[in-house]
Amino acid sequence: MSTRAVVLAVGHYAPQRVLTNADLEKMVDTSDEWIVQRTGMRERRVCSDGETTSTIATEAAREALERSGLRPQDIDLVVCGTVTGDMWFPSTAAHVQRNLGLENAGAMDVGAACAGFIYSLSVGSAMIEAGHAKRVLVIGADSLTKFTDYTDRSTCILFGDGGGALVLEGQQNTDRGVIRTVLFCDGSGIPHIDVEVGGSKYPAGSPQAEGRRTKIYMNGNEVYRFAVKAMGDACVRCLEQAGMTADDGGLFVPHQANIRIIESAAKRLGLPPEKVFVNIERYGNTSGGSIPLGLYEAEQTGRLKRGMVVMTVGFGAGLVWGANLIRW
Ligand code: ACO
Repeated sequence: MSTRAVVLAVGHYAPQRVLTNADLEKMVDTSDEWIVQRTGMRERRVCSDGETTSTIATEAAREALERSGLRPQDIDLVVCGTVTGDMWFPSTAAHVQRNLGLENAGAMDVGAACAGFIYSLSVGSAMIEAGHAKRVLVIGADSLTKFTDYTDRSTCILFGDGGGALVLEGQQNTDRGVIRTVLFCDGSGIPHIDVEVGGSKYPAGSPQAEGRRTKIYMNGNEVYRFAVKAMGDACVRCLEQAGMTADDGGLFVPHQANIRIIESAAKRLGLPPEKVFVNIERYGNTSGGSIPLGLYEAEQTGRLKRGMVVMTVGFGAGLVWGANLIRW
């Protein structure tokens, strides 16, 4: 009898501080009109000085755990998709384990940039399906604003902070749960998005790091072209492997990087607007946080209901991309 990784509950966290397009107009040569037209964004949340990615991950996980009705000791594993951990090590997942007192849980981070949640959900559900874990916290959380260059108008308008978390439980005799996941990578795209300094190639403070970038660099046009194709491809492949079509899906919750990328993917899949979840206008691109934040808001607003098939899809630095199909 096969085991499915069923979603028991979802939680979220977004910092209180709001950065609007009007605020950005005072910082760089940009306009509200340009940002709205080219990206769909109006405002985003930004961590306060005391807030970090582990704050986002912990609070999202705390809410998901509370809503699931489980106790901290019931969790076997924490998988956190992030590329903005508090430190290079230990992992952000280890902070969550400590902060929530998950005394029986292992903990690890998954580094897949804006596809961090897609990858983490794949890992978490596979651990359940293989029988290595019964209950898993899967988190997507990032604070990209900490690595954003607020003198670069081509990137600083895009990013915000936030995240979400799911509690998964292995169950049998159910058609709910993670149906299928697909993951892809094309490392030839490595130069298109990066933060150079801080890793082992250009360690912070080392002579090698001198003159290298400490903030996000992105070739927006290359990433845009790639993303439009990757989002549609991943969805098609995931649906094919599940023996389903886009019509079987009740809701599409894509990574929120640019409204035009989302609309192109939806068009290719033939999805009407009412099946496409968008909150980019309020959060911008929260990297690994965007999809679970979207799932949370979709459920809260009644657009995502139990038993409905939801498709999530994301892409990011690497370049990496992927999709998940879940019966909620
Ligand atoms: N305000 C006003 N003008 C701007 C701004 C701005 N904030 N930014 C760029 N411009 C200008 C450019 O200088 C250019 O001017 P020019 O024609 O005089 O040279 C013009 O606007 C057009 O620039 P483009 O870069 O062609 O603008 P485009 O429509 O492609 O939008 C954007 C840029 C929004 C970055 C888009 O390319 C995009 O969304 N790319 C994908 C980004 C993405 O999805 N990243 C996700 C991964 S992030 C991760 O993994 C961490």
